[in-house]
Amino acid sequence: MATAYALHLLFVTVWIGGLIFLQLALWPTASKQLQEPSVRIPLLTSTLERFLWLGWAAALILPVTGFWLIGVYGGMARLGWHIHLMTGVGLLMVLLHLALYLAAFLPLRRAVAAGEWDSAGRRLGWVRWLTWVLLLAGVVVILLTGLGARGGL
Ligand code: HEM
Repeated sequence: MATAYALHLLFVTVWIGGLIFLQLALWPTASKQLQEPSVRIPLLTSTLERFLWLGWAAALILPVTGFWLIGVYGGMARLGWHIHLMTGVGLLMVLLHLALYLAAFLPLRRAVAAGEWDSAGRRLGWVRWLTWVLLLAGVVVILLTGLGARGGL
């Protein structure tokens, strides 16, 4: 049980911390310093490709460890509203990650491979928008879980 809890927290940190770095540090810096699309877009696409694998790991490990803990605690009915909310939003985040990869990232990678910078730029915009939604959902889950767990709400 302690292992499941520790892994859960580790992958929350990896996923949400990575999204924060991507959105608030790397992306704005690349947009400012690399004006040339044929340089900026491949850099962001390769970075995303590596990071999305960590996202897949988190999208698998968070539900597995979460439901493992729920089993150990004796089922959903015995748990607080914050765990219900985390489970619901967490599963939506997994679906969003899937959509981001299949519907936004793969077309982006194809456009980059073909050197179609206009199309790649538009698709990168989509990836960024979905990444914001994912980050926002993660931050809301963390804040509400923390507040709910300690009676802050
Ligand atoms: C996908 C399904 C998920 C399930 C079923 C789930 C379930 C759980 C459970 C059962 C706990 C243990 C609570 C306790 O020991 O009191 C927990 C802890 C936690 N989870 Fe999740 N979780 C999921 C996804 C997420 C996501 C996506 C995030 C954040 C982005 C997250 C953030 C946290 C945090 C910060 C804790 C520690 C809170 C505490 O110690 O009370 N979880 N989760």
